[in-house]
Amino acid sequence: MPQYADYVVIGSGIAGLYFALKVSDSGSVIILTKKQQAESNTNYAQGGISATIAETDSFDAHIEDTLRAGAGLCHRPAVEVMVRSAPHVIEELRMLGVHFTRRGRTLDLGREGGHSHNRIVHARDATGRAIEAALLDALAKRTTVHIVEHATAVELMTGHHRRGGKRSAAPTCYGVYALLPNGQVERFFARATLLATGGCGQVYAHTTNPPIATGDGVAMAYRAGATIANMEFIQFHPTALYDPSRPGPAFLISEAVRGAGAVLRNCGGERFMVRYDDRAELAPRDVVARAIDHEMKTRGDRHVWLDLRHMEKREVWERFPTIARECARRGIQLPEDMIPVVPAAHYCCGGVWTDLYGRTSIERLFACGEVACTGVHGANRLASNSLLEGVVFAKRAASYLVAHPPAPLGAEFDEILPWDDSGTANAEEWVLVAHDRQELQSVMWDYVGIVRSELRLQRALRRIELLRDEVEEFYRRTKLTPELIELRNMVTVAWLITQSALHRKESRGLHTMSDYPLPDDTRWRCDTLLRQGRVWCRPLTDIACDKAGQ
Ligand code: FAD
Ligand code: SIN
Repeated sequence: MPQYADYVVIGSGIAGLYFALKVSDSGSVIILTKKQQAESNTNYAQGGISATIAETDSFDAHIEDTLRAGAGLCHRPAVEVMVRSAPHVIEELRMLGVHFTRRGRTLDLGREGGHSHNRIVHARDATGRAIEAALLDALAKRTTVHIVEHATAVELMTGHHRRGGKRSAAPTCYGVYALLPNGQVERFFARATLLATGGCGQVYAHTTNPPIATGDGVAMAYRAGATIANMEFIQFHPTALYDPSRPGPAFLISEAVRGAGAVLRNCGGERFMVRYDDRAELAPRDVVARAIDHEMKTRGDRHVWLDLRHMEKREVWERFPTIARECARRGIQLPEDMIPVVPAAHYCCGGVWTDLYGRTSIERLFACGEVACTGVHGANRLASNSLLEGVVFAKRAASYLVAHPPAPLGAEFDEILPWDDSGTANAEEWVLVAHDRQELQSVMWDYVGIVRSELRLQRALRRIELLRDEVEEFYRRTKLTPELIELRNMVTVAWLITQSALHRKESRGLHTMSDYPLPDDTRWRCDTLLRQGRVWCRPLTDIACDKAGQ
């Protein structure tokens, strides 16, 4: 197995795979991925990918919808780049073999919350799977690309790992240490390393995200000294299937179902969303999730209902076959039965701070997709802008690197130390890892969820710091496993989310504080940045200028 490549990519979702495809003509690529190659958030994406395609639609409308959902914190230059690139990347995906659903001779365009036009390009309700499969097929034909499955990145290799602590002037990444299935931690060197590790929904007890979503990229980048941004903005999807009999990730009921006409009712049968927003069920996600949370808390109910009973059976099964089948497996026949739904953690709007080419604050380290914070989503992501962001910025990072290839590594090959596992031994108490994971997830759900307060956040922080100390101790004396690596990363990410949430003393977008119920533009129109234990705010005006200049 090669342990040096021009590019090392960590993660095999849409961002990592698209990047790999785009750089594969100009260099060798190693993709490290911690489960099977298709396992990713991407693979479960349902609703689709947004793009201005309809004749009645416009770039300006998509930009305005994105900015409005983002509640004043989107970086306009980043949004413009993303929206204007969308039709082109959809065409590229189509050329790669993604079979998007068509209506006659044109693409069928769905509707989702916060969008003023129909602009969701989809492959029925399994868009992510169609994209993932097409990208993996395309990569299988590239001899320059090598995918290593079941390889869990542990730590980025930086100056800290050089023999004698020799560091370059700017913090630099030389690749990554990864745990392989044989239990060994190996060095993977690269001219440039791409973090494409996706989100961190698993830090919450209830999430739509699969088990891989443990925030590894953000945690590794933070430990390596990178700037992390806006971690307080965690998106809760309003409609995850409520099924307490099944542990594990909550099955998503796509927003596209509401886009096609389904309505929300509380357990008293009332269509409550009309009381909260003129756009009712198609308001942006933060609004709908908060409304559901409020209805459930004030009525003492465990879920609300999604009602499709007025919709045509044929239409429902044709447009949403995955959802209809999964509901049927659980005894819910669509559209005759209503679906019990609850909000669940879904998406991280913050992440590793990048510019418009995926460059992070560490030399030779790039980040794309959900792990990155490009400034596109601000305080709340607009539906179906995530796959789009992943593909657009992966392409931009690739173009940048092809045009500006980093110098080959030299002395680093000898100077970066092998992984040191002396002092570690097999521990018997693996139950501790499972228990700590559950405890962390409950703390985050109970105290750092949809509605927050200083009291709850402080309480969460104290518990997270206790867990952090315990896990660090365990990490130092224990032989590594993927579960322990994930737990350590989850604790770091939970700490970053909670610190950022405590810092922002207002309510905006996805961050709702009962002690500060209103947005405060005079003090808080800024990004929350974190680096090496320091939290600070950077006014949006400064950032918008920087980005426009790039
Ligand atoms: P991912 O697709 O999550 O890929 C991350 C990869 O990194 C995985 O391969 C993982 O195994 C790997 N990895 C992680 N840590 C490590 C490590 N330490 N070492 C090695 N490998 C690692 N967005 C939309 O725009 N439209 C939708 O319709 C939509 N529907 C969604 C439905 C669901 C159920 C979910 C959960 C999300 C949905 N989203 C949707 C969000 C979107 O799917 C994700 O934000 C997006 O796919 C992220 O892509 P990514 O490439 O950044 O990461
Ligand atoms: C969905 O299908 O509701 C998910 C879309 C998204 O996360 O953007």
